[in-house]
Amino acid sequence: MRVCVIGTGYVGLVTGACLAHIGHDVVCIDNNEEKVKLMKSGQSPIFEPGLSEIMQSAIQSGKIEFSSDLAAGVAHGEILFIAVGTPPLPTGESDTRYVEAVARGIGTNLNGGYKVIVNKSTVPIGSGDWVRMIVLDGIAERQKALVPAGGVPSDDKLPEIAAHFDVVSNPEFLREGSAVYDTFNPDRIVLGGNSSRAIAMMQELYAPIVERKFAADQSLPPVPILATDLSSAEMIKYAANAFLATKISFINEVANICDRVGADVTQVAKGIGLDSRIGNKFLQAGIGWGGSCFPKDVSALIHTADDYGYEAQLLKSAVSVNERQRLIALEKLQQVLKILKGKTVGLLGLTFKPDTDDLRDAPALNLIEQLNRLGAKVKAYDPIISQTGMRHGLSGVLVETDAERLADGCDALVLVTEWQQFSQLEYAKMAKLMNNPVIIDGRNFLDPETMVRAGFQYVGVGR
Ligand SMILES: NC(=O)c1ccc[n+]([C@@H]2O[C@H](COP(=O)([O-])OP(=O)(O)OC[C@H]3O[C@@H](n4cnc5c(N)ncnc54)[C@H](O)[C@@H]3O)[C@@H](O)[C@H]2O)c1
Repeated sequence: MRVCVIGTGYVGLVTGACLAHIGHDVVCIDNNEEKVKLMKSGQSPIFEPGLSEIMQSAIQSGKIEFSSDLAAGVAHGEILFIAVGTPPLPTGESDTRYVEAVARGIGTNLNGGYKVIVNKSTVPIGSGDWVRMIVLDGIAERQKALVPAGGVPSDDKLPEIAAHFDVVSNPEFLREGSAVYDTFNPDRIVLGGNSSRAIAMMQELYAPIVERKFAADQSLPPVPILATDLSSAEMIKYAANAFLATKISFINEVANICDRVGADVTQVAKGIGLDSRIGNKFLQAGIGWGGSCFPKDVSALIHTADDYGYEAQLLKSAVSVNERQRLIALEKLQQVLKILKGKTVGLLGLTFKPDTDDLRDAPALNLIEQLNRLGAKVKAYDPIISQTGMRHGLSGVLVETDAERLADGCDALVLVTEWQQFSQLEYAKMAKLMNNPVIIDGRNFLDPETMVRAGFQYVGVGR
């Protein structure tokens, strides 16, 4: 099928490359010319395991093209994905101006022939109908531009074009760090909309994925497709993220109580996680949730509830537990080092999770800011950020090129991100390079006994 993906960030580029990989003809549009240039040369502007490989093979087989020409993308696609960012506004609402710009641009460029316009961006509940309205506005603007003063429209096809598209909500559940894997191995595909024609086209688009043709385990039953109305599909995305964020806040609260009563939260999590009603995922206590999705999506849901006169008390509590938790490492550093002024703290990891280069709303950023405020010097080593030299959003921190340089002269280390390679560092050597071999394990990732044997004073979260 002919697909156009507008917005080539973590979601759009992965979606475009994966759809090209399974055989569709994809055009990816972005208004960032530099990104487009990079992608045309076969390079991915983001780090995501496996992405460069499938991008390059799709370029070679002619299945994917990159461009900044929205009109050409709209002309190409039978299915048009909107995958631009919806960052948070200071009020907590989603900033939907990028979605609006794209929807209007689609409207002004629709050229006849039936199109499915897909909201892949996470958008506030009600956005499906709103996008439809903006597309119609775009069509009307074009129609107006074509009418000579006082005359009649010169393009009589426009009313027909207006009747020839449908909007579908297809929320994305991929995780940064395993986005390609998740696209080929989804737990479910949600399709919201009221047009059976549009839903049937989306089912055809995803058929190879549903049938597990590109899955790690092809013997599994087909991927469930859940067809819903527009608003329910939009709500499923928010509810899923709100649930996961709340689950993490829950275990973090339990960890803080464990710290006080002398229990070990890792054993508690195992004990409750074996209950099939609870499950063992998202029960790792640590320094709180962050990233580009959970904080903004939970805030947006709280805000939507507010708009309808409902106070989302549980969600508000999940947020406030998290705000406190994001500074738990600071609390622990103060307990061990007492005065932080004049001390050097080394951060192992900067990104909000491993296997990504995404620093948006990473807990490390709060920690750096607060350590600087208290007069500490901050250094960091992150396997991707140190290598790529990407420093967007980073200040007040010296980025080192390896873990030993990081340890050199530090009064304490904080493990911020559970990169797999951090389990194999030469900790005994690192301890000797430090002023004071303390490690705050902000993800309960390291083995306390091994760290003590390596010469460290080990402090975990709730253990
Ligand atoms: N990142 C994730 O893990 C994730 C997971 C699920 C859902 N989502 C949702 O998907 C959406 C996209 O997220 P992302 O992380 O991929 O964002 P991103 O910021 O990484 O990428 C957005 C891209 O859109 C481009 N863009 C902006 N305006 C444009 C325009 N008018 N025309 C063409 N391109 C334009 C930007 O240049 C950028 O490349 C958001 O709504 C987000 O909430 C993200």
